[in-house]
Amino acid sequence: KKNVGFIGWRGMVGSVLIDRMLEEKDFQNINSVFFSTSQFEEYHYILNNQQKERLRNAYDIEQLKEMDIIISCQGSDYTEKMYFKIRNIGWQGYWIDAASSLRMNTDTLIVLDPINKQNIIQAIDKGIKTFVGGNCTVSLMLLALGGLFQNNLIDWLNVSTYQAASGAGSAYMLEMIQQMNFICQSIQKDLFTKTPSILDIEKKITRIFNEKNFPKKNFGVALTGSLIPWIDAPLNNQQTREEWKIEAETNKILNSKKNINIDGICVRVATLRCHSQSFTIKLKKDISIRNIEELLLENNQWVTIIPNEEQLTKVKLSPVNVSGTLSIPVGRLRKLNLGKKYLSIFSVGDQLLWGAAEPLRRMLLLLI
Ligand code: HSE
Repeated sequence: KKNVGFIGWRGMVGSVLIDRMLEEKDFQNINSVFFSTSQFEEYHYILNNQQKERLRNAYDIEQLKEMDIIISCQGSDYTEKMYFKIRNIGWQGYWIDAASSLRMNTDTLIVLDPINKQNIIQAIDKGIKTFVGGNCTVSLMLLALGGLFQNNLIDWLNVSTYQAASGAGSAYMLEMIQQMNFICQSIQKDLFTKTPSILDIEKKITRIFNEKNFPKKNFGVALTGSLIPWIDAPLNNQQTREEWKIEAETNKILNSKKNINIDGICVRVATLRCHSQSFTIKLKKDISIRNIEELLLENNQWVTIIPNEEQLTKVKLSPVNVSGTLSIPVGRLRKLNLGKKYLSIFSVGDQLLWGAAEPLRRMLLLLI
């Protein structure tokens, strides 16, 4: 059995990864070793409190180099600090990472095996040792639209995202809920009077957003009751880094011979852990909606088509319905009035599962 070291396994993505691995009984096939950046040498309960183990030091190269495979969900700072250190001493193990820092390196593959399994297998054969999960919106988009990408049907694609608070990290997610709580507590009385005045309540809430003690240490502004059309750092071409990643990572994952043009706006909304995306696609040719649905369904087992009907759309094509599942519902499929080659699609996916942990777990399975 391979020695597999886990770093950042108690964080949000790490915990989702561990839960999935327990669910699929993956731990039976590896020697798991748990590292910590802060509580090493201490004994801790791990794996759903089933056993107690001494944690190893995540900054100790001597302990890390004993691993055949390292999986890091610790974040970019850790990766930047330790990855080159361990490679520089000649460590030949596999490094699987959730963070973005190594993604675009030439000796790194971005992994999403339902889409690029062949490339992954070839890379392993060629001796590539570093495999990184893609940006969440990219992975979720590729699973939703895999059938169109892999049949080379996309001329260009424009996307608007509706990204959950979880994508920003656990502290942000908590803050979004604290914002909800703050608002509710402040208007509790007004809500339950006999004749609530909605405009008075609205004015009060709008004032609350600007109160000094409104919780916004992380986001800097209100997300609850509002939205933030900006994710990640600015680039000098007017895009945000999140927006830049969509085209760059997609083409890298697909190993595109000719670049597929993709651009859009990434928006943070007050949902918990599911990213939604609205796509406008210019197809290379006019194909029927039925044909498109078949291609999407054939591409992978997680896509489901939600008929373009009111009730089914409201119930099924929603973050609430998808949270905690691997399902990728795709709906609102229709040709736009712009012309027969213009297609509109909406999709939803769990940002912590397919958007982060699941591609790493499946990469590990390909190596053990
Ligand atoms: N960058 C994503 C977000 C996180 O902010 O939602 C997943 O890669």
